[in-house]
Amino acid sequence: MCIKDVLVAAPMATISTPAFRILLEEFGGCDLYGSEMINAASLLTGGPFESYYVMAEPVPEKLIHQLVGGDLESLWKAAAYLDGIPGFGIDLNMGCSAPEIIRAGGGVRWMRSIDAARSLVAGTRARVKHKRLSVKLRLGEQEDPEYLLAFCQALVAEGIDFLTLHPRTRKDKFRRIARWEYVRLLKEHLPIPVIGNGDVRTYDDYCRVRARYCPDGVMIGRAAVRSPWIFSYIRYKEGQQLPASPFVESWNPFTVNLRAVILRFLDLLPQYQPREFLESRAKRFLQYVSGNLVFGHRFFTQVWNASGWEDLRTLVDRYFSEHPEEVVRVVE
Ligand SMILES: Cc1cc2nc3c(=O)[nH]c(=O)nc-3n(C[C@H](O)[C@H](O)[C@H](O)COP(=O)(O)O)c2cc1C
Repeated sequence: MCIKDVLVAAPMATISTPAFRILLEEFGGCDLYGSEMINAASLLTGGPFESYYVMAEPVPEKLIHQLVGGDLESLWKAAAYLDGIPGFGIDLNMGCSAPEIIRAGGGVRWMRSIDAARSLVAGTRARVKHKRLSVKLRLGEQEDPEYLLAFCQALVAEGIDFLTLHPRTRKDKFRRIARWEYVRLLKEHLPIPVIGNGDVRTYDDYCRVRARYCPDGVMIGRAAVRSPWIFSYIRYKEGQQLPASPFVESWNPFTVNLRAVILRFLDLLPQYQPREFLESRAKRFLQYVSGNLVFGHRFFTQVWNASGWEDLRTLVDRYFSEHPEEVVRVVE
């Protein structure tokens, strides 16, 4: 696949499971999917949940497995392992700003040293022979366009195929808005495709970032959880032909059955997650998707306080029977 004008579902720990990808695919899907980040060392030692993180369903040919960690040898070996299983690509996480990941030397910690990052990519490239190799990164410790460019040029020299920039610094977390002008900077200076990511919530946002910053692809995270139809909506607005979806009641106006979407996700989850994860993952999904509901805040408080996975479906059913006017939603 050529990385040009691609729509990408962001890698999101606790969200990017096969169940979530199936939901997006049933709307019509996007071009590429990031997996949850996979801890390289745990993958090698056979951690109890790693087999769930590497699952490539339902479209292995679109899946990018993302590795996280701070140890070169583990990352190299894990990449070699992933290169031998179904999937489109392998991504190195140089963007995560979670303190526990940084303490272990991973995520955005890699951006502190060009030499260290260079070694990581060089050794990974030598082991990844069948798949695309990419890096997802932030701006780094602070805004410094020269450093960012030098950092990315070193990654390119070591053979990455494309990169994704989430243009915030480590300290920003989600506080400041994403500074897409850095996506354009990389796009103008690097000879590889550059995917931009951050704060794309609507079709208008998508049009704006494409027109102003000319990325080779747009990655969407939180808005794809809140609105799992966002990729098909964008594709529909761009004039693409989409297959029928069980959730889309009409394309114009774009009308989705929100109740069916939520219940479908709850049905899919147990097929692809260990029992221990069901409650937390369902709650995380419901946290985002309840942003569509008029009484979403109250609904999510009930969800959050529910004592078990089994109660969640009942809460969803009850909400929609009390608010039948919200079952179907027109997307603008
Ligand atoms: C719940 C959650 C989990 C995330 N997990 C990861 C991850 O595992 N790897 C990663 O590179 N980024 C992760 N991110 C960051 C997203 O991939 C993305 O860069 C960020 O959310 C900005 O995009 P957005 O504004 O479209 O959400 C996560 C974000 C969220 C909200």
